[in-house]
Amino acid sequence: MSLPEMKRILLSVPHMGGSEEAYVRSAFLSNWLSSVGPNVAGFEKEFQERIGLPSVALSSGTAAIHLALRLLGVREGEEVFCPSLTFVATANPIRYLGASPVFLDSDRATWNLDPEILASALKERALRNRLPRAVIAVHLYGQSADMGPILETCKRYEVPVLDDAAEALGARYKGRPVGTLGEVAAFSFNGNKIITTTGGGMLVSRNPDWADRARFWATQARDPSIAYEHSEMGYNYRMSNVLAGIGRGQLRVLDERIRQRRAIAFRYRDALVDLDGISLMPQAPYGFHTNWLSCFLIDAERFGCSRDELIRILDAANVESRPVWKPMHLQPLYMRCEHYGGEVAEDLFRRGICLPSSSSLTLGEQLYVVNVIRKAAGAPLLRELETRLQQYEEMQSCGIA
Ligand SMILES: Cc1ncc(COP(=O)(O)O)c(C=O)c1O
Repeated sequence: MSLPEMKRILLSVPHMGGSEEAYVRSAFLSNWLSSVGPNVAGFEKEFQERIGLPSVALSSGTAAIHLALRLLGVREGEEVFCPSLTFVATANPIRYLGASPVFLDSDRATWNLDPEILASALKERALRNRLPRAVIAVHLYGQSADMGPILETCKRYEVPVLDDAAEALGARYKGRPVGTLGEVAAFSFNGNKIITTTGGGMLVSRNPDWADRARFWATQARDPSIAYEHSEMGYNYRMSNVLAGIGRGQLRVLDERIRQRRAIAFRYRDALVDLDGISLMPQAPYGFHTNWLSCFLIDAERFGCSRDELIRILDAANVESRPVWKPMHLQPLYMRCEHYGGEVAEDLFRRGICLPSSSSLTLGEQLYVVNVIRKAAGAPLLRELETRLQQYEEMQSCGIA
């Protein structure tokens, strides 16, 4: 079961499409080697064509969340609702503004913000006359949160919604692109994302004035005069013209990357279908899940080993895997913040595992990972992933599986 001279199989690596270098070269040839230039303008325009909303290219998804919160008027001493089950970059920008996060539990059916917990938390806060300034809806691992009820509840209390779509570029909610339903949204092009600029982000908003405001703040809030005059505080948050070139090339292969990531997740699911105690992250019927990462839940007793043991076994076999995000209400940094519920997030963290999901993962590599998992569960190994998957498909079409 070993691959000769095998390189480590990583969780999620960059995957260039081929045209990126030409865009980068054009930046060098034209000497546009700063945060202005045709690639920045082109990347924003092409992203806007894809998403349908004014877009601002930034140095990171975290910067996009920071500016988005500022656009929503978050100020010192205020509070922002945020799912507990997320990466820390969702919550940190709340603190950058001197505000405090309040963490909410996830819905087991989607792993995202639980609309019922949100409704009861907002109701309780309204009674105390202490509504949050904003709600962040995170779209985890490529799957949209259930935006219908979330938006409806937030509208009732007049609390705006920020979409943290860092992990969900290409996902959809009832046919609409994720990141277009709230007031403002953030995307990430970090090296592990479905497309990358090595590091970078995009802020999008339905309100074109907000996009202009974000662009202004991202360039040190320099007033429109020849002198260096500033009336507001700004940041150095613009994306460079070189990296925007990578983004333009990557955007051209986004649909292919989505197809590849989904195929990987469903291949894992089908190749492990006969094992007890391991199940793919739910695919909510309202949406289109990109499966940016292939995430599974382990039931130790039924599977035969715990999630942590499985991570160790995979590591020893030279395969990188990771636990699902550690909830924010359990983090030393945030454990003193208020939270509503948290048991679902804790359970998903304790039992959830992210498997290698790079769009460049080969069938041979995936077969290897699958067999390490099958061995850990004491199940017979697969000799050939494609053959086995064909068998499943045939069994399914005959109604046997
Ligand atoms: C949910 C979530 N929010 C925000 C971010 C921040 O994005 P970036 O790394 O581009 O700053 C990430 C990823 O890194 C993320 O996974």
